[in-house]
Amino acid sequence: MFNSKPVLVSGIKPTGDLHIGNYFGAMRQFVELTRTGKYQPFIFIADYHALNTMQDAEEMRRRTRELVMAYLAIGLDPKEVVFFKQSDVPAHTELCWIFDTITTMPYLMRAHAYKDAEVKNKEITIGTFNYPMLMAADILLYDAAIVPVGQDQKQHIEYARDTAEKFNRIYKTDILKLPEPYIMPGVAVVPGIDGQKMSKSYGNVIPLFASHDELAKCVMNIVTDSSGDRPENVYQIHRLVRSEAELAPLYEEHRGKYKILKELLIEDLDRYLAPMRAQYEELQKDPGIVDDILAKGKNTARAISEIKMEQVRTTIGVA
Ligand code: TYM
Repeated sequence: MFNSKPVLVSGIKPTGDLHIGNYFGAMRQFVELTRTGKYQPFIFIADYHALNTMQDAEEMRRRTRELVMAYLAIGLDPKEVVFFKQSDVPAHTELCWIFDTITTMPYLMRAHAYKDAEVKNKEITIGTFNYPMLMAADILLYDAAIVPVGQDQKQHIEYARDTAEKFNRIYKTDILKLPEPYIMPGVAVVPGIDGQKMSKSYGNVIPLFASHDELAKCVMNIVTDSSGDRPENVYQIHRLVRSEAELAPLYEEHRGKYKILKELLIEDLDRYLAPMRAQYEELQKDPGIVDDILAKGKNTARAISEIKMEQVRTTIGVA
């Protein structure tokens, strides 16, 4: 499967229940990019990064499986993508340690995530402080050319570039390749059923794999605002699943009839999400699929990362 295509690397933490905000905001673009055929993609579940905020073994196992199934259900093709768990490939933490030895504390103190936590007076673990170095290892192990991420992760890619440069300078080598960030063109923030940003912490989500009945319940609870021409919260969700050209006459015809517009939204959402939901349900019947895919991904990712680690060990003089 390996060819000379540029390598794409990205990770996703198995935290949080998936909702349509995650899907339209990030997951969909992510899968589309891996399907362009332009790259050799490596996508992994960043479970060691997630450990910083999730310390419940059952939850970690469950969410990891759910995330793998969700990505398969929305179209990630494990034949084209090396899809694996970060914790299955020891080279990630090994290279992270080597980077720690060339990285200073003041440099890591400039990370946005660290500064945010400090301002909020949160207790900061070494894992959180060191987050950018594990991420640098994730990326540099595979010679990533591009790293597709949301805007919030841009600084982390810069850390990976700086670290590669520093390592290459100290050891007078060029074995670490500098990656480029690829900021996924964000869909405007997907609103929740109360009009604020859709977020699990606000309790305003529409789950990605909701049944028709659950969808109906969520949509009927959308807060309608009667100040303008159309119920904006309903419309902003509707335009994700149906073109604005198609929606204009419908909203004109049913002006002020919020119940009818909500019923139309339920049907359109259901039609859009049903194939992915069916796929997700199908995958749940055969949990072995997740194990097989992760086992295959683990073998490939281990083999590839080991080549880089051998070069690194020789370069630093431990081998
Ligand atoms: P995580 O799991 O928090 O987020 C996964 C990806 O989704 C993007 N994202 C968004 N993009 C657009 N709009 C949003 N509302 C939105 N919410 C999340 C994130 O930017 C991210 O790209 N640190 C990474 C995980 C990671 C990683 C890596 C990524 C670990 N190692 C190496 C790339 C390369 C993270 O926070 O993921």
